[in-house]
Amino acid sequence: MLTRSLPYYCAAADEVEIFEMAWREKMPVALKGPTGCGKTRFVHHMAAQLQRPVYTVACHDDLTAADLIGRHLIGAEGTYWQDGPLTRAVREGAICYLDEITEARRDTTVVIHTLTDDRRMLPLDRLNSQIEAAEDFMLVISYNPGYQNLLKGLKPSTRQRFVTLSFDYPEADHEVEIVVHESSIDKQTASLLVEAAKALRRLQDYDIEQAPSTRLLINTANLVKQGLPISAACRVGLLEPLTDDPAILNTLQEVTDVCIRA
Ligand SMILES: Nc1ncnc2c1ncn2[C@@H]1O[C@H](COP(=O)(O)OP(=O)(O)OP(=O)(O)O)[C@@H](O)[C@H]1O
Ligand SMILES: [Mg+2]
Repeated sequence: MLTRSLPYYCAAADEVEIFEMAWREKMPVALKGPTGCGKTRFVHHMAAQLQRPVYTVACHDDLTAADLIGRHLIGAEGTYWQDGPLTRAVREGAICYLDEITEARRDTTVVIHTLTDDRRMLPLDRLNSQIEAAEDFMLVISYNPGYQNLLKGLKPSTRQRFVTLSFDYPEADHEVEIVVHESSIDKQTASLLVEAAKALRRLQDYDIEQAPSTRLLINTANLVKQGLPISAACRVGLLEPLTDDPAILNTLQEVTDVCIRA
């Protein structure tokens, strides 16, 4: 039997159980939430738990339906068909994870429609055929609502096919646990970094576009572990990635310094 190590995931609420319910009912799942808050880790954790392979597609605006479904290629023996990641997942009963789905053009995203209603069929127009999804196939999409504009948002006819889980930054004690686990930093330093992140997140409505993610806290903790003083680590690991404006940067550094001197 295939044994995989289970990627570490610290649950915020009942998302693990809900994902399993959706999987059993063959319902597709959408994950929405800000950058670096655990969406991708969650999918890998769930895939390992359910013992399914996962095919991830990072969506972008040049992504075509053929990139998902497949295309004819020319080889030494003539032309042959190569499945795209979506088709492979459909045939093999894997999880297909379309990351940042709102970055893809709408005419690309409609290819998932027939897969996400009760037909669970994937039309392969270029092969003049269609395939029925294997029993264990599951479609998972993710997006960051903050990056969307009206044009880029998902069509209601797409959104309304998914069980939708909303992600956010973890509460403080969970976030400390995550930072300690991922960076092997001591708990006290992790707590200071999490305090700083909380203070910065409270500011986000005023002067920074994006709040600091758990990912940035882990990067910062790794630098501290390498011996960089915590203030310098915060500057390059936590603050510079948030803004290019020197005045804002200084304000953020002041807010952070108060927390990490505690
Ligand atoms: N709940 C969590 N449990 C375990 N690790 C977490 C959790 N949340 C965040 N992390 C850590 O933060 C990192 C970033 O998380 P992840 O890559 O899953 O974010 P994301 O939501 O997919 O971000 P993006 O939208 O930018 O793709 C992970 O590699 C992991 O180390
Ligand atoms: Mg991700």
